Amino acid sequence: MSLYARIAGTGGFLPERVLTNQDIEAIVDTSDEWIRERTGIRKRHLVTQGERCSRLAEVASRRALADAGIDPAALDLIIVATTTPDQVFPSAACFLQQRLGIRGCCAFDLVAGCTGFVYALGVVDQFIRTGGIRRALVVGAEILSYIVDWQDRDTAVLFGDGAGAVVVEAGPEPGILSSHLHAEGAYTDILQVPGGVGDRKRDPYIEMRGNELFKIAVTTLSDVVEETLRANGMQKSELDWLVPHQANFRILQAVVRRLKLPLDRVVVTVGEHANTSSASIPLAFDVAIRDGRIRRGETVLMEAFGGGITWGSVLLVY
Ligand code: COA
Repeated sequence: MSLYARIAGTGGFLPERVLTNQDIEAIVDTSDEWIRERTGIRKRHLVTQGERCSRLAEVASRRALADAGIDPAALDLIIVATTTPDQVFPSAACFLQQRLGIRGCCAFDLVAGCTGFVYALGVVDQFIRTGGIRRALVVGAEILSYIVDWQDRDTAVLFGDGAGAVVVEAGPEPGILSSHLHAEGAYTDILQVPGGVGDRKRDPYIEMRGNELFKIAVTTLSDVVEETLRANGMQKSELDWLVPHQANFRILQAVVRRLKLPLDRVVVTVGEHANTSSASIPLAFDVAIRDGRIRRGETVLMEAFGGGITWGSVLLVY
């Protein structure tokens, strides 16, 4: 009998504090109009100083566990996709395990930039298909405001903080159908946070060549969607929902236009959440499930790209 990795529950968490485009106008030379036109972003949620990635992850995880009706003690695996863990080590996943009050299960972080959550779902799918585990907690959690240079208008307008989580359970019904994960290390310098271990002379802030990245994102995302559909012998018309990484509404629109998908089948949260990196897909997924758009039995395609560069997709039946 085939085993599938099925989403048993979802949860999200956005910090209370909101920073609007108007608030950013007071920090750098920009305008609400420019930000909305070029990115679709209207506001973002930010933590207050002292907050930790694993705390955001905990709130989202407890909501996902409650939604799934699963006790934390039943988990076999925790993966936290993040670029902003509490510390260099131990992993945010180990801090999260401690916060959940459980012991013994496998726990690790996964770094794949904004593609982290998609990568993590792909990894969990392999564990479940081989029968290695039965229940996993997969979290995307980020405090990007700690690695944004608030004097750099190129990046300050784009990012937000938050966490999204799913509980994945083994079962006979689909489930994740396939995952498609890619990386191109030749582009490490196009989107990066330099500095850190072994290089303390550079500030650990996001550096980005936005224009180049924009074009690469549209091409790689369109390609990976085609690759996913081909691998599953599916037509675009058979997709119920696209839940893309929420980087920029124009990127999302360009991909959707290329694929000739109707925009009302695409979950869009970038206006309210901004780019929360690996948290953006699980947050958007949770929003669309809770407001009743995505229903059990529907087919959902998730796709993302990010620093590395990395890109990938997961096709699943919710
Ligand atoms: N406010 C006002 N003006 C700004 C600005 C800001 N925050 N940032 C840049 N500008 C200016 C530029 O200086 C430039 O001015 P000029 O024409 O006088 O030289 C002009 O706006 C256009 O800049 P450009 O970089 O060509 O804009 P763009 O249309 O490419 O939009 C991004 C910029 C960053 C929004 C866009 O390239 C993007 O979203 N890229 C992908 C980024 C991304 O997704 N990163 C995360 C990946 S996971």
